[in-house]
Amino acid sequence: QEYVPEKVDYVFKVVVIGDSAVGKTQILSRFAKKEFCLESKSTIGVEFQTRTVSIKSKVIKAQIWDTAGQERYRAVTTAYYRGALGAMLVYDISRRQSFDNLARWVEELRANSDNSIVIMLIGNKADLVEQRAVPTEDAVEFAKDQGLFFAETSALSGDNVDKAFFQLLEEIY
Ligand code: GTP
Repeated sequence: QEYVPEKVDYVFKVVVIGDSAVGKTQILSRFAKKEFCLESKSTIGVEFQTRTVSIKSKVIKAQIWDTAGQERYRAVTTAYYRGALGAMLVYDISRRQSFDNLARWVEELRANSDNSIVIMLIGNKADLVEQRAVPTEDAVEFAKDQGLFFAETSALSGDNVDKAFFQLLEEIY
């Protein structure tokens, strides 16, 4: 639920991670600005966007950090993960490699963040039905093994994006 705040009860830092070009920046724009940009450029360094929502009658400002998936543009990892209460771990359902790399991302995340961090696995580009290379069941199994929440989204259509963020924020709360 949307809220124009006078006071914020909590600020939740959430980081978005995953391979390059899986749609991290677009998912974030969808959630924070409700828009999608077809010619998205690769992220250089770190950017963040915020959206203030109301959850269980508290005003929560989600501060969502986005960094480059490409190694050469990666920001200092420790600073990036510091204080994060939640993480969106994104792969592209049409690119198997982005799914196969998830274990490495989980490892980096666990090494640099608090034990209590809430992690949501996101299979993005769910609109690319014909190009699907990762069956939903594979992701469900991986999420179960690793103790992650899971959702498939499309930043392009907007499907499930808000729902996934709200679920993550509620779990943090
Ligand atoms: P880096 O900044 O390099 O780490 O990439 P990123 O993960 O932030 O990817 P970005 O959001 O820039 O999106 C990469 C490309 O995928 C762009 O061309 C987007 O338009 C496209 N894209 C993102 N989300 C979707 C989606 O849900 N569906 C489809 N079909 N394309 C998408």
